[in-house]
Amino acid sequence: MAAVTLLETKDLSRSFGGLHAVSNVDFALGEGEVRAIIGPNGAGKTTFVNLLSGRLRPSSGTVTFEGSDISGLPAFERVRRGIAYTFQITSIYPNLPTLENVMIAAQGGGHKDAGASIAERAGQALASVGLQDRAGETAGEMAYGHQRLLEVAMGLALDPTLLILDEPTQGLSDSEIEDFCGLVKEIANKATVLLIEHNMPVVMQLADRITVLNFGEILAEGTPEDIRADRQVQAAYLGS
Ligand SMILES: Nc1ncnc2c1ncn2[C@@H]1O[C@H](COP(=O)(O)OP(=O)(O)OP(=O)(O)O)[C@@H](O)[C@H]1O
Ligand SMILES: [Mg+2]
Repeated sequence: MAAVTLLETKDLSRSFGGLHAVSNVDFALGEGEVRAIIGPNGAGKTTFVNLLSGRLRPSSGTVTFEGSDISGLPAFERVRRGIAYTFQITSIYPNLPTLENVMIAAQGGGHKDAGASIAERAGQALASVGLQDRAGETAGEMAYGHQRLLEVAMGLALDPTLLILDEPTQGLSDSEIEDFCGLVKEIANKATVLLIEHNMPVVMQLADRITVLNFGEILAEGTPEDIRADRQVQAAYLGS
C-alpha cells in the first residue's frame, strides 16, 4: 500500500561556496508518516530541512508539496500552506509571556479554515505540550526543556500538515525526552512529522522510516530495522 506523497524533492542541491551541503537529493515523504533524518554532524540535515521550509533557496532542484512546486515560495507562504518547523537553536521571544509567543506563531497559519480564534488555538497548542499552567510565564525564564516544548507548541498552533523538528530533544532530560516521545506520537495522529534527531532510541521508537544523510547525500533509507542492520550506516554513523 503506497501512501500518498505529501512532500517530494527532486535533485535538490545547495552549495555554500564550493561545499556541497545538500547534493542531488531525491526524497519522498508519505502523508501521515513519522520520518527521521539522521546522519553525522555536518551531513546536511539542517540545510536540507531549511530548503523544505524555505529558509534557504536551493542551488538547483525542486521541492513539491501537496502536488505543487513550492521551490520558489518564501518561508511564510510555506507556513501558510501547512509546513511548520522548529529550529535546531531555540528561537522563542524570550521577553514575552509563553502564551503570547504561541499567539504570534499562530498568526502565520491559516491554510485550514480554523473556526477557533488565535487565542484559542494558542491555548490548545500550549495545553497539548503540557505548558498550559505556564501561559503567563516569561518564556526566556522557563527551563530549557520547557522552552523547547514552547517551540513545538508554536509549530502546533499553525495546525500544520507537516511539522519539521530539528533536534527537538537536544538538551532535554531523560524524563522530558520520554514525555516528548509521547507528544510526537499524539502529533502524528494529525500531522506528518519530519524529525532530525541524534538520539537513536528516540529515532527507533518514533520513526516509521529513517533517511540517513551523509556528506549531503542519502546514504540509506528504510525502516528502523533496515537501518539498524545496514553496514554502511553503521560505518558512517552508528559506530559499532
Ligand atoms: N550558511 C552556511 N554557510 C556556509 N556553510 C554552511 C552554512 N550552513 C551550513 N553550512 C555547512 O554545510 C554543511 C552541512 O551543515 P548542516 O548544518 O546542514 O549539517 P547538519 O547535518 O545539520 O549538522 P548537525 O548535526 O551538526 O546539526 C556543514 O559543512 C556546514 O558547515
Ligand atoms: Mg543541524
